[in-house]
Amino acid sequence: MIEKRFKCPDCGKVASHSGMPGEIKIIYCPYCGSKGRARLPELKHIEDLAIEVSGLRKIYGDLVAVNDISFSVKKGEIFAFLGPNGAGKTTTVEMIESIRQPTAGTIKLSGKDIKTHFNDIKKNIGVLPQEFHSFERLTVRETLVYFSKLYKKRADINKIIESMDLKSCEKTLYKNLSGGLRQRVGVAISLVNDPDIVFLDEPTTGLDPKARRDVWNVIAGLRDNGKTVFLTTHYMEEAEYLADHIAIIHRGKIIAEGSLNELIERYGHGSLLRIKRCKTDDAVKTLREKGFDASSEGNGNIAVKIDYKDRVLDVLSNLRHECIEYESIDIRRSNLEEIFLQLTGAKLTGEEIA
Ligand SMILES: Nc1ncnc2c1ncn2[C@@H]1O[C@H](COP(=O)(O)OP(=O)(O)OP(=O)(O)O)[C@@H](O)[C@H]1O
Ligand SMILES: [Mg+2]
Repeated sequence: MIEKRFKCPDCGKVASHSGMPGEIKIIYCPYCGSKGRARLPELKHIEDLAIEVSGLRKIYGDLVAVNDISFSVKKGEIFAFLGPNGAGKTTTVEMIESIRQPTAGTIKLSGKDIKTHFNDIKKNIGVLPQEFHSFERLTVRETLVYFSKLYKKRADINKIIESMDLKSCEKTLYKNLSGGLRQRVGVAISLVNDPDIVFLDEPTTGLDPKARRDVWNVIAGLRDNGKTVFLTTHYMEEAEYLADHIAIIHRGKIIAEGSLNELIERYGHGSLLRIKRCKTDDAVKTLREKGFDASSEGNGNIAVKIDYKDRVLDVLSNLRHECIEYESIDIRRSNLEEIFLQLTGAKLTGEEIA
């Protein structure tokens, strides 16, 4: 038996259904009751999965920290698990790494259940924990050698140093490294056993933009080398820049999942054309009369919703035709922050509005 999540075409909610690989079956949506036919994936597809999580739950006392979540990660992709502080990211990733015990649910890595096969699995995973620290008085090279000795299967330390761009600091003591370099050493440690799957829990928190970019390049390089990366983050730019697949978690529930384009198509508002410092008072009214979805953002700034790209040219030619003057324009696509705001009424990185 296998399990797959299907989205109901009527109510849009997602639910798990089980059956035999390749089976076409009648399924009922548990939310709205509508009925439809669905095909369960062939086994070949399942063999392509690095991580399969089904019905995962974690309860701490009265708190349901992870509330019945299911998702899968394909081999060789970067999967971003995106959510605000306290959403349940670390709890989830640490259950997958077998550091915390789930209250319920199953987890498979490379097709093997972690409950029964963890000894087998652990040599093929690498972990960078949240708030990682290492030995202050070991150099970068000594640190990597130390950690690699914990494993039978060992990657070439020279290659790791090279690919993580750590050559210039390989003889520097860990305590003397900058935050960005420490995080790079952390990612390097997670690779000492040449794992197939790498878990990185908030690898760039607290780094400046340049150091963050450097770590992003390192992470993208892992995927280029065929590794599967499970990345938890609360930075939407990080997920947008790196991830092949994104799951957004909020209060222990996955509220949206897909590629960036899929999420934007499903939940976003398309693109916005911003006309800045418009010098004509009734420009919004004029644009609306011409059939554009325009609104004022104050200070003479106007936002116009754009549903297809030629619409931008229509707006601009109307501005010219009506002699409406402005300082500049920019065009912005919907992003994950807006999607999160729309789905939850809260900001991804700040306080909640409702
Ligand atoms: N050991 C624990 N005992 C009790 N509650 C816990 C424990 N660990 C986490 N929690 C709670 O579970 C919820 C989820 O925490 P978790 O650390 O998984 O969130 P997170 O998404 O990783 O957050 P952050 O972005 O701050 O790292 C939080 O409310 C947290 O306070
Ligand atoms: Mg965390």
